[in-house]
Parts: sequence; structure tokens; C-alpha cells
Amino acid sequence: MTADTELLAVGDLTISFQTPRGVAQAVSGSNFTIGVGERVGMVGESGSGKSLTGLSLLGLTPPAANVAGSVIFDGRDILSLPKKELRRMRGEQISMIFQEPMTALDPVFTVGQQISATFRAHHGVSRADAKERSIQLLQEVGIPEPKRRYSEYPHQLSGGMRQRAMIAMALVCEPKLLVADEPTTALDVTIQAQVLDLIVKLSEDHGTAVLLITHDIGVVAETCDRVLTMYAGQIIEQCSVDEALERPKHPYTSGLLSAIPRPGVAAEDLRSIPGRVPLPVDFPSGCRFGPRCGFLADGCDEPQDLVDAGPHRWVRCWRHAELDLPGAVAHHR
Ligand SMILES: Nc1ncnc2c1ncn2[C@@H]1O[C@H](COP(=O)(O)OP(=O)(O)OP(=O)(O)O)[C@@H](O)[C@H]1O
Ligand code: SF4
Ligand SMILES: [Mg+2]
Repeated sequence: MTADTELLAVGDLTISFQTPRGVAQAVSGSNFTIGVGERVGMVGESGSGKSLTGLSLLGLTPPAANVAGSVIFDGRDILSLPKKELRRMRGEQISMIFQEPMTALDPVFTVGQQISATFRAHHGVSRADAKERSIQLLQEVGIPEPKRRYSEYPHQLSGGMRQRAMIAMALVCEPKLLVADEPTTALDVTIQAQVLDLIVKLSEDHGTAVLLITHDIGVVAETCDRVLTMYAGQIIEQCSVDEALERPKHPYTSGLLSAIPRPGVAAEDLRSIPGRVPLPVDFPSGCRFGPRCGFLADGCDEPQDLVDAGPHRWVRCWRHAELDLPGAVAHHR
């Protein structure tokens, strides 16, 4: 689905750090939007700037980060909101879930106490109402025996159940946008699929938009409408999930697709992209993907702009029109 109404618009987002080796521009001029109820995947290898981008949507970048640009949500710029309003916006309008639920759950309180406290803080309901609504929410996120689980501590839950409890916490206020940063990376494959299904179901049932951050383009393929591929601090391709899978236009996106596990291909035979993402202080001055690209040519030593490559489609590679890159289907043959 591509939503008609814009919920979030990120403009020229740049996040940099002062380091002993100079300025590290970890996110360099990102532009993207998320529509009401839309599910957008942000994919890329470690160090590409995904988490920093996700955190900036909640005004949660580390204090050392210099953040420039704009993050317009519901007509207001999150990057310049007063702290108090930002705190209210967080949770009520935008929530975030992480790879490790223990970053959001407090080990010394029961799961139920924590969800109830959030209900009471944001909705001003009575203790009994908060308890009842928390139990309903635990049930909605698929936690069996929600009454019993309500009184348990986070460490008493399995990893998958803890992740469900964190999702429940994030949904107390029915936020319009959920930022999910590697929400299933720590889980085994079966539980991972269940948690992804849950995120999709909740998004559909409540009209919640989702920014799903992952290094696994296969996860995006299963859950999202649109994909933003990040490499070395830049969005290098932006298109629908179907377009990316069928006919990627950037060599990096095509490379990520070649690494998706598939039946009949042993893990060691999957083609991974040689080399690794450079550190922000070492980004090449020309195409940042150049040192790892199999299509390098004269002209690639120039910085690459994100160019219009069709309806709702952008790519950061001057050769995109002439390259015929394999998508997921071709890699699967
Ligand atoms: N506090 C900081 N000081 C300096 N550099 C930082 C800081 N935080 C992050 N970075 C750098 O910013 C870059 C992007 O980090 P980010 O965490 O957004 O990457 P990511 O795409 O989420 O990676 P991963 O998949 O490993 O989570 C990395 O190179 C990281 O080293
Ligand atoms: S600009 Fe050149 S190096 Fe960069 S992705 Fe395109 S072909 Fe590869
Ligand atoms: Mg990250």
C-alpha cells in the first residue's frame, strides 16, 4: 500500500559527530516520507546510519550528535520541539521498539506494572482500569495466559514474549508511527516470523505506520510496502518493495538481495557483498559504494546524487539506466 496522506517528512537530515579524526557524517542528507498507515523498511548493513535515523524521529539521537535538517511530524518539526512537548509526542504519537526488549523493560517491575503505569500516565485511568486494559493489550499481542503474565517479571518471559510485551508497551497510546529497530534480530527464525506477523497485523488493525529497520532485506520483503536502502549514511535507493525485489536499480540493493537465504541454497553459497561499510570518517569522496561495486566505471569517482528513476522511485547511481541488475527472483533461479 502507498498511503495518500503524509504523516512524516524527513528533509535533508544530517547527523554528524566530532571525532579525533575529524567530522564523521554518519547520516548525510536523507529525504523521505512515511504515509499514514504505511509500512516502510529501512535496510542496510551495520554502520550505514539506520539506527541514528530511527532515533532522530523521536528526538533521541545521542547528545554528542549534531543533527541538522527537519523531521516534520503532523506539521511540527521534532528536531526543534521543546523537551516537554517532545516527551509527550514520544509514546503518544511515535513509539520505538528495539532489538533488545530489556532496554525498554525495567527488570525490577512486573510486565503488568510497567504497562499499567504507562496507561495511567498517558490516559489518567484508574488503577483497576489500567490493569484491565493492560491485560487486554497483552492478549492482543499474543501473550498466552495474559492474567498470569501480567504479574511476572521480564526475566520470566522468553525472548519472543518479552518482545511482544515491549510491543504492547509501545502501543499503549495507539501511536501513529512505530519505529522498530531490528525488532526480531535476536529471535530464532520461527519466533521472528510470528513477531513480524504481529507487527503487520497491529499496523493493519490500528492504521499504525511503521518504520522497520533491519539489515535483512528478506524481512522487509515480508512486511513492508516500500523500502529505503541505506549505504554509508546515504539513502541509495527508494522504491516499492515489489520494484526492489523484481528489478533493483542500485548494485548495492541487488547485492543485498543475493544474500537472502533461499531453499536449496546452502548458507555458505549465498553471495555476500565483498568488503564492508566504511566508517564515516573514511567515506570515499566519489560514489560511497565504489570500492565494493562490480560496475565501477569512469564517472563513479564523482559524488552521486539521488536521482529520479521513475514514479516514486529514486536511485543514487549515475549508471542505473544502463545496468540490468538481478532482483530476488533472478537470484533465486
Ligand atoms: N556516539 C557516536 N560517536 C561517533 N560515531 C557514532 C556514534 N554513534 C554512531 N556513530 C557512527 O554512526 C554510524 C552509523 O551508526 P548506526 O548505529 O546508525 O548504524 P546502523 O545502520 O544502525 O548499524 P547496525 O546495523 O550495526 O545497528 C556508525 O559508523 C557509527 O560508528
Ligand atoms: S555510481 Fe558507479 S560505483 Fe556507484 S553504484 Fe553506480 S556503478 Fe557502482
Ligand atoms: Mg542499528
